[in-house]
Amino acid sequence: MINNTRPRNVALAYSKENALNAICPYFTMFPLEYPLRVLKKHKKDNPVVLDPFCGRGTTLFAARNLGMNAWGIDSSPVAVAIAKAKLASCDIDDPIALAEALIASTDPIDIPKSPFFKHAYHPQTLRDLCKLREALLVLPKGSDASVILRAAALGCLHGPLPKDLANAGYFSNQMPRTYASKPDYAVRYWKEKGLKAPKLDVITVLRRKIARLTGLSFTSPNSILQVFQGDSQEADTYDAINAKPSLVITSPPYYGMRTYVQDQWLRNWFLGGPSEIDYTAGPQLNHGGKDVFAKSLGSVWRNTSSISSDRLEMYVRFGIIPSAAVNVKEIFKNSLEESGNKWRLVSVRAAASADAGKRQADQMKTDSAAAVEFDFHVERI
Ligand SMILES: C[S@@+](CC[C@H](N)C(=O)[O-])C[C@H]1O[C@@H](n2cnc3c(N)ncnc32)[C@H](O)[C@@H]1O
Repeated sequence: MINNTRPRNVALAYSKENALNAICPYFTMFPLEYPLRVLKKHKKDNPVVLDPFCGRGTTLFAARNLGMNAWGIDSSPVAVAIAKAKLASCDIDDPIALAEALIASTDPIDIPKSPFFKHAYHPQTLRDLCKLREALLVLPKGSDASVILRAAALGCLHGPLPKDLANAGYFSNQMPRTYASKPDYAVRYWKEKGLKAPKLDVITVLRRKIARLTGLSFTSPNSILQVFQGDSQEADTYDAINAKPSLVITSPPYYGMRTYVQDQWLRNWFLGGPSEIDYTAGPQLNHGGKDVFAKSLGSVWRNTSSISSDRLEMYVRFGIIPSAAVNVKEIFKNSLEESGNKWRLVSVRAAASADAGKRQADQMKTDSAAAVEFDFHVERI
């Protein structure tokens, strides 16, 4: 188990022992404090934990550290690739040894030639990245080391230029860390500022990232197969879960937030997606209005309920994007009614006051000043 003692007021996300949780940034993750607090409260009951919108797997990481059984579902391949890493354990040298072997033995056939890729990466860096990408795509069986390598590569794929190349943490020209810029905008920006992609050795950058993952060798109580890609609105998505969840800790997409997949288009490319933005972005909740949204969220609660143990408690952090003028509590309450089950509201409080560190809404590109987020705790009756 990882020791989480730290100086007061330092958000857990920034502490060294939680570097694995930070292996790759992800838009709108919730702070580690939130699931940890809930899990510690319920640990004595030895719950089976489920996060049906697991994102980058913060709930799973917290559960792993407390030795608890946890499952995660997400419809985004990028989220799933990162979340799997939260359950993986291996010798710290294994992912790099694998990367060296894969790069040495692969001749890339698909090197993108668009202006974006030409400016985003130095040709040599891009070539090695493509070797790694293609080799990981055809790797027959996912090992924990390959899961860590894939998530670390996603984490290094784009981010700010380093002041000193010897400390580079990302392979790319200047980019945001959490989401990928739109190609035309990025190319214009790099040209205007005269920014050039640095010549970086892929293995060196990866080694630096992986060396920080201090928690990696702590044996995980969970298998990497306990996180999988699926639409949590569909009942058969849950067939893969061979345990009865009793505790849900989750954060559904905020009402009005539909761009999880498009904003991660570059990481999606690394996972085998197209080398441009794919606007037909897979299964999402229906954001076409507050009623249909509540209905689609309700189907997730119904599916969860149908595979759960006799007792089921849910902790849900949920909000709206600032421009969506709707009542968050009402949408959540309606989603519970739509589930067809009966629920008791145990507590509801504003999320902003609940945790140290950044709020989820702060990571949205929009002005977050007016965003509203709540932590709901409900139990099925
Ligand atoms: C707010 S984020 C969750 C963040 C997570 N708590 C974390 O710490 O990283 C919501 C997630 O729901 C996923 N999602 C959206 N619609 C979904 C669906 N129908 N089924 C499964 N996941 C979905 C998105 O891909 C996104 O990763």
